[in-house]
Amino acid sequence: MQVLHNISLKQYNTFGIDVKARYFAELYSDNDIAAFFGSLQREMMPVLILGGGSNVLFTKDFQGSVACIRSKGIVKLMEDEHHVYLKIAAGEVWDDVVKYAVEHGLGGIENLSLIPGNAGAGPVQNIGAYGVELKDVLYSVEVADVIARHYRAFRPAECELAYRTSIFKKQGKDRFVITSLCLKLDKQPVLKLDYGDIRKELDQAGIKQPTLSAVRDIIIKIRSGKLPDPAVLGNAGSFFMNPFITADEHARLIKDFPSMPSFSSGELLKVPAAWLIGQCGFKGRRIGDAGVHEQQPLVLVNYGNASGREILALADDIISSVKQKFGIDLEKEVNVI
Ligand code: FAD
Ligand code: EPU
Repeated sequence: MQVLHNISLKQYNTFGIDVKARYFAELYSDNDIAAFFGSLQREMMPVLILGGGSNVLFTKDFQGSVACIRSKGIVKLMEDEHHVYLKIAAGEVWDDVVKYAVEHGLGGIENLSLIPGNAGAGPVQNIGAYGVELKDVLYSVEVADVIARHYRAFRPAECELAYRTSIFKKQGKDRFVITSLCLKLDKQPVLKLDYGDIRKELDQAGIKQPTLSAVRDIIIKIRSGKLPDPAVLGNAGSFFMNPFITADEHARLIKDFPSMPSFSSGELLKVPAAWLIGQCGFKGRRIGDAGVHEQQPLVLVNYGNASGREILALADDIISSVKQKFGIDLEKEVNVI
């Protein structure tokens, strides 16, 4: 393990923001993680744990250490009649894990195809897409507790997993380094095809009896048509979370905005933030190199040399416009650093 000084983070975040880290280390194993945290000097603090950098916005140089988790390994831990339990090292690329599961006929995460980033970040915001969340398949999470200085395992109930959040994004942030996770996957997959355009796309492709790999291919097709590829245009996916409102709030809003879409979710209703942002006139807005994506206003983009502060200023402008017009508080999904 090597600790480097004054390293540009441009290639380590999908927004492509050019800031520097005072110290920077890539940790390839649990031994590296232990050695790094065991040898931290005061001037190396604080520590930012980083995976693929696809859910962060850097707004300034990082005056501590950035620790990139790069540990690899997918191992079958155990198997029963219905399930296979896979242990996955935190540094595995998430989509490689999905590919592995699909190729081995294991169901549960095919709808989470093509989400960028590493497996270790998955529990942090309980990654979700197309009607599936990581919590549906998560069996356990192993962490290094860098404050208590021991290793421990979290069962799903202890992870406080909810829409785009968990204990690791709240009080456990910067304390628990996720070193691996265990997923419980189905040997007899039950496909989840009800979200959005999945069925329509399968029909159009003439697929009558979809397999895991057909679902994966369709999800990849839908996502590629909607979301900008960070390798081409810097972004971190949805910048904001979709807000949930009460039936009373909905009744108030629908009077003034009869075309407002909403989706019921338990006792609450989910309103697409993309619609709210579009209604405030931000779709396709560009200020310098900071912009709102033309097809998907939930995604903020870096056209080249935007700074994190410029993107943050645009985000804050969106938040206050949505608040003013609809009385709804948009919350950032992306971790601002
Ligand atoms: P990073 O950006 O490196 O880190 C994110 C946060 O997790 C940081 O706070 C970091 O400190 C923490 N962290 C990372 N690794 C660890 C670890 N090992 N231990 C403890 N903390 C850690 N997300 C979705 O949920 N659904 C989507 O459909 C989706 N689509 C996206 C599409 C695009 C084009 C992009 C760019 C992003 C999308 N995202 C989506 C967001 C992002 O891909 C996920 O949040 C992903 O899990 C982030 O992984 P990462 O390794 O890049 O995390
Ligand atoms: N919409 C508009 N105007 C637009 C575009 C979209 O009003 O210009 C509305 C439509 O009404 C559509 C709705 O947005 O029904 C939702 O679109 P989509 O199904 O693509 O979902 P999303 O809300 O944009 C969420 C997640 C994505 C995830 C997709 C698929 C959040 C914050 N985002 O996006 O996750 O991939 O659903 O499940 O929940 C991410 O978290 O980074 C991310 C990309």
